[in-house]
Amino acid sequence: MKPVLLRPDIYWIGVNDRTTDLFEGLWPIRKEGISYNAYLINDEKKAIIDLSKELTTSDFIEHINEIFPVSSLDYIIINHVEPDHTGAVLHLLELAPNAKIICSKKAGLMLTAFYGIQDNIEIVHGQDVLDLGVHKLQFVSTPFVHWPETMMTYETTEQILFSCDAFGGYGTLDGSIFDDHSSDLRWFKQEALRYFSNIVSGVSTPTLKAINKLADYPISIVAPSHGLVWRENPGEIIDLYKKWSEATSTPPAAGVTVIYGTMYGNTGKMLDFIIQGLSGQNIPIEIFDVRYIHPSYILSSLLKYNGVLVGAPTYEKSIFPPIKNMLGYAKLKGIENRKTAFFGSYGWAGVAKRQFEQETLEMNWELLDILDFNGRPQTVGIQNGVEFGERFAQQLLSAF
Ligand code: FEO
Repeated sequence: MKPVLLRPDIYWIGVNDRTTDLFEGLWPIRKEGISYNAYLINDEKKAIIDLSKELTTSDFIEHINEIFPVSSLDYIIINHVEPDHTGAVLHLLELAPNAKIICSKKAGLMLTAFYGIQDNIEIVHGQDVLDLGVHKLQFVSTPFVHWPETMMTYETTEQILFSCDAFGGYGTLDGSIFDDHSSDLRWFKQEALRYFSNIVSGVSTPTLKAINKLADYPISIVAPSHGLVWRENPGEIIDLYKKWSEATSTPPAAGVTVIYGTMYGNTGKMLDFIIQGLSGQNIPIEIFDVRYIHPSYILSSLLKYNGVLVGAPTYEKSIFPPIKNMLGYAKLKGIENRKTAFFGSYGWAGVAKRQFEQETLEMNWELLDILDFNGRPQTVGIQNGVEFGERFAQQLLSAF
């Protein structure tokens, strides 16, 4: 895409990434893609806010040259050092050798560690102001949103918040960068939730602190480093991030995320009976087979509901490994205070149940019920499965 004017002399100069399969080497974006949003201010002093990933450097440099010769750049503002925002920095410094890097103290140390950059760095702190001429940039310290060095940049004349990872989402920007011109705003919100659950939910407490701090700033545009730019309703994405940050430790609604795997179909068969019991109670249910669905998509569901139903057979001396993997992601991303129940088949020893009990303790999940069985569901009775589902749904509903 070509550069897009946000306000007079302030441009979006981002790039779409349609080739990376796994964001951070972990999260699938093959279908959805992602944008690396950077911004340029063409004032008496010329500044860029955030950069792009290394593989998109040539597009990024072209964008700058469309507005002014890259060699005339005065400032490179680095809100966050993660390489999806800084991969272009060495090439950019070659083309603009007089540009000064503006960043936090910790970011300066990281730039040395990641890129060997030591010179021409000016350290700024929260509340410091950089005067570009007409435009003034105020820095807002927001540690751990997403890394410890992270800050945001606030443009005081037009009241634009350059928020970096916060308020971002997956998805390439196809044709328009703005919330009010988006072809499918619902999809972008869904991908913002998936991005939040994958990237930000592990730092929910610092995110809530940052959102509280932002209450002092009138904001007309939220311009994050990934996903849509929010100009029609900038408060909406801030409110969503607040809701999702709170949801990591305080579930917002009654409902069930069902996470299951099955080896020869016995745990899967029992799932059918349990679901019959659950659905009869009129509670929202989302079902994920962990053999085929990446944790990236399951984490979003875990942020929606108070209940997690886990179905896993015993595999040799372990809980079914894909379930163990999924629970590891939930723990890493700080999903706490859920109500849970467990079911699964075993051949000769119910190891999965015991391992699940241990996992729930570590995540502060309340284990309400267990239904494990030797071999096929009939050994405990299929009606027991239906009643197990009914009971779990009732317990979740009564918690609200
Ligand atoms: Fe978009 Fe934490 O990097």
